[in-house]
Amino acid sequence: MQLSVYIRSLLSRLFPAEQPRRVPELFAGGEIRLLDASEKHLFRDHLLRLDGDTRRSRFAMHATDAFLRSYVETSFTLDTVIYAYLENGIVRGTAELRSLGNADTAEAAFCVEQDWRRLGIGTRLMDLLLQEARARETRHIYINCLATNRKMQALARKFSADMSFEAGDVIGHISPPEAAPTDRLRQWVLRQMPKAQATLSRWS
Ligand SMILES: CC(C)(COP(=O)(O)OP(=O)(O)OC[C@H]1O[C@@H](n2cnc3c(N)ncnc32)[C@H](O)[C@@H]1OP(=O)(O)O)[C@@H](O)C(=O)NCCC(=O)NCCS
Repeated sequence: MQLSVYIRSLLSRLFPAEQPRRVPELFAGGEIRLLDASEKHLFRDHLLRLDGDTRRSRFAMHATDAFLRSYVETSFTLDTVIYAYLENGIVRGTAELRSLGNADTAEAAFCVEQDWRRLGIGTRLMDLLLQEARARETRHIYINCLATNRKMQALARKFSADMSFEAGDVIGHISPPEAAPTDRLRQWVLRQMPKAQATLSRWS
């Protein structure tokens, strides 16, 4: 076995990276889990049920049914993750995380239907999205939030260690917490590997 492959497999066994929770979890009378592309229709129906105010808060614009239908069609790409809260197989809340062109920047969006609010669903979805971001080594997450959107701002404030607001109050900005010491040690060892290999090849 090549030395670098051996060291990588040893490191991942010694210091397994923190992984987001990918199995469904029971929550507030329903479940929270990832949605996949075969469940596009559940996501679409959830968005189409939203009233005008919620659509404006979520998309920061007037979102017509036609817009929402085409939005859903492009939503399930490889670098997008959608967590959903479901009750009886119907999606009542969602959190989306998608990359913004480069590896360390992503956009997040949240939406919980009116009758399911204030149950902690938004908070749990935010928690899962931050874990996902941390696992992807995303450094910045932008949430397009209207200056008047007090509920989203209150939700963001619950994660003030990770989040701050920029001037103009339009965009929330999150820096996922520092990697754990074991992650940093793993990164350091991986950075040293090319040097070690170069030295070894000079000796052999
Ligand atoms: C923002 C949103 C996702 C919050 O979802 P939620 O499931 O109600 O969130 P939670 O129950 O976890 O509440 C989170 C916190 O937000 C605050 N909050 C939520 N609704 C509130 C309200 N009506 N009044 C005052 N504070 C409120 C509270 O601080 C609450 O925490 P607490 O209950 O521990 O005090 C939801 O209101 C929503 O979908 N809004 C429309 C779409 C939107 O604005 N998306 C954001 C832009 S992408």
